[in-house]
Amino acid sequence: MVLIGGVTVKRTCYNMVMADNLSQMLQPLANELRKASRVLCLTGAGVSAESGVPTFRDSGGLWEGCRPEDLATPEAFSRDPEQVWRFYRSRRAKLLAVQPNPAHEVIARFESRFDDFHLVTQNVDGLHQQAGSKQILCLHGDIWIDRCTECGFERRVATVDEPMPQCDRCGGLARPGVVWFGEMLPDGVFERAVQLAGDAEVVLVVGTSSVVHPAASLAGLAAHSGAFVAEINPNATVFSESASLVIPVEAGKSLPELEKILDILTSD
Ligand code: OAD
Repeated sequence: MVLIGGVTVKRTCYNMVMADNLSQMLQPLANELRKASRVLCLTGAGVSAESGVPTFRDSGGLWEGCRPEDLATPEAFSRDPEQVWRFYRSRRAKLLAVQPNPAHEVIARFESRFDDFHLVTQNVDGLHQQAGSKQILCLHGDIWIDRCTECGFERRVATVDEPMPQCDRCGGLARPGVVWFGEMLPDGVFERAVQLAGDAEVVLVVGTSSVVHPAASLAGLAAHSGAFVAEINPNATVFSESASLVIPVEAGKSLPELEKILDILTSD
């Protein structure tokens, strides 16, 4: 069982790189991937940014101008469930209007490219699943689940109809099926992620600021275990200096390019 918590960090912007440099930058990663069978991809909100889903800590992000403690903690829900549900209903409504982007699609296709490919995500938006990912561990739950606060009954929803959803089984107040700050991650999920990070030969860290633990510890753990860890993120993070390679380019551009290089390498 692992407790979730967060810290903040100041980030620096890299200059955008020219597109023709991208394939050169990706070459070392492609070379490592070509030899690898055990590959892990760790994702955060940035992988969904090009679908139009706001991240949390970027400018205009979900936490800009508000405190996560008021919207994403069990205490906030006990104090004001209507306010918390408004926040999650508005996120659900926005998600109904978006689609997976090329980054989600490449990650989904990577499952069949490598012998042993896994995806560990902090995202709750369901876009990886929509893109076709199956080997997926969701560290922070799923925004499309309502879970009863009385009996724990869960149901999957696809709409944003009810302002304060009630349990189908006991009539109790339901809450979003996500992990809030101060809560435990789902049983066994983080333990499995640790195992995958320790075993992986290559790890892709895509679109996360790497500040929310325990998720943020996985990339470092993989690096310590000897994995080649590549960070794909237009902005530097607290993890950047520990990465084997940093690709400072949006995931929706860099992952399709990486896939192209791999196609060429494997057709040789
Ligand atoms: P953050 O908002 O903290 O970080 C998003 C990261 O994505 C940043 O480092 C951006 O630079 C990067 N980014 C933005 N656009 C990108 C793109 N097109 N391609 C690649 N990277 C891009 O989001 P997370 O790290 O996911 O938890 O946040 C972790 C957790 O904090 C979330 O799961 C959530 C949040 O509070 C809870 O709500 C419990």
